[in-house]
Amino acid sequence: MQSLAIVGAQWGDEGKGKITDLLGQKCDVVVRYQGGNNAGHTIIVGTKKIVLHLIPSGILHDHCVSVVGHGVVFDPEAFKVELEDVLSSGCKVTPEKLKISENCSVITMYNRLLDGQRESKGPVKIGTTGRGIGPAYEDKISRKGLKLKDLLDLDHLTAKLKDNMIEKEVLFKTLYNCEFPSVEEEAARLFELGKIVAPFLTDTFSFIDKSLQENKKLLYEGAQGVLLDIDYGSYPFVTSSNTSTGGIYTGAGLPGNHIGEVLGITKAYLTRVGEGPFPTELFDEKGDFIQQKGGEFGATTGRKRRCGWIDLPLLKYTVKASNITSIALTKLDVLSGIEDIKICTGYEYEGKTIDCAYQGIDLSKVKPILKDMPSFNDDFKGEVLSDELKNYIRTIEDFVGIPVGILAYGPERSEIKFQKDYF
Ligand code: GDP
Ligand code: IMO
Ligand code: MG
Repeated sequence: MQSLAIVGAQWGDEGKGKITDLLGQKCDVVVRYQGGNNAGHTIIVGTKKIVLHLIPSGILHDHCVSVVGHGVVFDPEAFKVELEDVLSSGCKVTPEKLKISENCSVITMYNRLLDGQRESKGPVKIGTTGRGIGPAYEDKISRKGLKLKDLLDLDHLTAKLKDNMIEKEVLFKTLYNCEFPSVEEEAARLFELGKIVAPFLTDTFSFIDKSLQENKKLLYEGAQGVLLDIDYGSYPFVTSSNTSTGGIYTGAGLPGNHIGEVLGITKAYLTRVGEGPFPTELFDEKGDFIQQKGGEFGATTGRKRRCGWIDLPLLKYTVKASNITSIALTKLDVLSGIEDIKICTGYEYEGKTIDCAYQGIDLSKVKPILKDMPSFNDDFKGEVLSDELKNYIRTIEDFVGIPVGILAYGPERSEIKFQKDYF
């Protein structure tokens, strides 16, 4: 297999960073292709904790080239902070090791402001990360956006910003009634930040193409999860990119037939940050217990993650929607030892019983069918898994029709069992 894709099979925060870091040891190139610094991918090595937002999770390996593809929306200010963080952790970051597409769309101050204003004053609160993701993708799609290469020439940058601001100014002045920077201030800020990004800018399309021709091993690191996909997710409570495998083709510039495996990262239970329906959400002490034991706080915003049981109709759907070929089941240690665990095996919806969600289903109207599962109490020290845990895993595999290839039972790199070979 030459290329592997890693996607979140739920609502994000499934443990993609940990698995990407681990499999990154075996590959040559790790590519981010969508989203932006709304992502928070945690890697724990010994006592060191690194949270990556924009920089791909292959960066800790010196042999590995990390690529930020053109489908990513890129906040150069967030990059500056992250770069300093990663460098201060002792990790090397050079233009040979980190390549950023000169065609990434830029997240401006106006985009961040607009995100914040809509969340605080708009009619529907999505619970965004406040990073300006939606407004930046809007600018891209409306063909008004800045590309990273635009930051390198101040006159050109000022002219483009001026064009972009004609509409924004009306919104800030008349609708939101808020302060905003002048075109000149924003151009000067972005121009300075552009100098920090400049050494890493390149034509990543050709780099990926060349890597494939040289038979290099590539890993595509998805951000968020399929249920947050702008097309496949629980709209409007989604992010603004294609988080599913489809995003790779548009966001990385990859000729389609190299991906041998799509690994869907799935927690043994389910979490969600932000607003939106969540059929198996727990509102009781058990939910609080899982939230505490699992340390379920957002890696980007620090918000508490909502917790619930694993939802197999949703998982079956994300497997289909993203062509997932195997699963990495994470956080098994969190569920271990908890009595009376449940799995959702179907929904009652519009007078029918269904076992698979679908695009456009109204998740706020489904009634989950919950099955009691024998609890397991594994400490994962030996090779042998308890019959109860094997049963839990087999129930998932049988339901969604693909194997669980990885079991994760702790945040550390080493706390993992492979049931299948990758690379
Ligand atoms: P990502 O966005 O998918 O990369 O996931 P996050 O980093 O936002 O959240 C996953 C959290 O769970 C992080 O704090 C990880 O260190 C941690 N983690 C990952 N896998 C496991 C696991 O198997 N068990 C436990 N207890 N923690 C894990
Ligand atoms: P990783 O890559 C979990 C959620 C937000 C909000 C919605 C829209 O770490 O798994 P946005 O700021 O993107 O416009 O917010 O999407 N969200 C995430 N939830 N993990 C993430 O990334 C997320 N990125 C965005 O909480 O509900
Ligand atoms: Mg995360």
